[in-house]
Amino acid sequence: MKALVLAGGKGTRLRPLTHTSAKQLVPVANKPVLYYGLEAIRDAGIRECGIVVGDTGAEIRAAVGDGARFGLEVTYIEQPAPLGLAHCVLIAGDFLAGDPFVMYLGDNFLVGGIGGLVEAFTREACDARILLTRVAEPQYYGIAELGPGGEIRALQEKPEHPRSDLAIVGVYAFSPAVHRAVREIRPSARGELEITDAIQWLIENGHTVRSHMVSGYWKDTGRLQDILECNRMVLERVEPGVAGTVDRLSEITGRVVVEPGAVVENSVLRGPVVVGADAKIISSYVGPFTSIGAGCVLQNAEIEYSIVLDGSSVDGVSRIAHSLIGRNVEVSRAAGVSNTHELMVGDHSRIQVKV
Ligand code: TTP
Repeated sequence: MKALVLAGGKGTRLRPLTHTSAKQLVPVANKPVLYYGLEAIRDAGIRECGIVVGDTGAEIRAAVGDGARFGLEVTYIEQPAPLGLAHCVLIAGDFLAGDPFVMYLGDNFLVGGIGGLVEAFTREACDARILLTRVAEPQYYGIAELGPGGEIRALQEKPEHPRSDLAIVGVYAFSPAVHRAVREIRPSARGELEITDAIQWLIENGHTVRSHMVSGYWKDTGRLQDILECNRMVLERVEPGVAGTVDRLSEITGRVVVEPGAVVENSVLRGPVVVGADAKIISSYVGPFTSIGAGCVLQNAEIEYSIVLDGSSVDGVSRIAHSLIGRNVEVSRAAGVSNTHELMVGDHSRIQVKV
């Protein structure tokens, strides 16, 4: 069994972060979301892992390397343009050869691993087994309709009138039969080779496609609110520990991680919170469900339910919440003229200001 991890794509929903970096490397509790997936693959007993990369390939390579750190042997597969999930299978043909494989969307977050899926796929032979989870708003997802024996009868992509509430999660197990399917299908209206069309092709051509229910929590981290929610989930279980220095004027409550080299002075940290290596938190409040990246500086700041990436600073600004702040960003109080906001913001940024 091999693994195919998809780490290319456009990432339009996470602009402007994706203008400069890969969305699969956005950190959840200060660890890139992609790493959780690679660990799940390793924990399922898989060693050979292909990673499909696009424009952000160099950054993904720098972060993952040869995979040895994860207990994996990684092969990179260049996708010239983000032409769809089934296109990734098409270009990975040489790497996958005749082996069955798990396909894992690199921006998906799954608690509970993929061991159950792999085990069921190996035990009960079929050509595809796809992970499903119940969702409240099926109209926003790819939906599966099941037969009496749990086999998949049909798929619907973001249906206006959903015939079930079972959403397709971004992890799939395939036999080599899928290679024919991805060659037979044509691009969809949005110009992509869709994996749902390939699975539908398998069903219509007499192949057995089964389902497997997600045992734990699942999120596609393609949007801001989903990343913040994932961060909350992971921080709720984080093992607290202070490796940096916290002065006596500071107050720490709940699950709080202060990584090595970080300094906390005259501040309140209400967990769950993680403060990255070499960060400085001075005369500030860091509230629940917040991850502060390595080397950040917070001074006279208040922030909660947010993620701040490495090397950023917040100075003299309070009541920041539900925010995702990129790398090396400066947020500070405007000097001089009162009641003005002074901004220099990248393309496709979103700023919400309370006036
Ligand atoms: P999506 O989130 O479906 O697509 P996207 O990355 O283009 O994002 P957006 O909708 O915000 O524009 O992709 C799921 C995962 O698969 C993600 O990790 C990116 C990856 N992917 C590829 O590697 N190649 C592709 O051609 C596509 C479409 C996605």
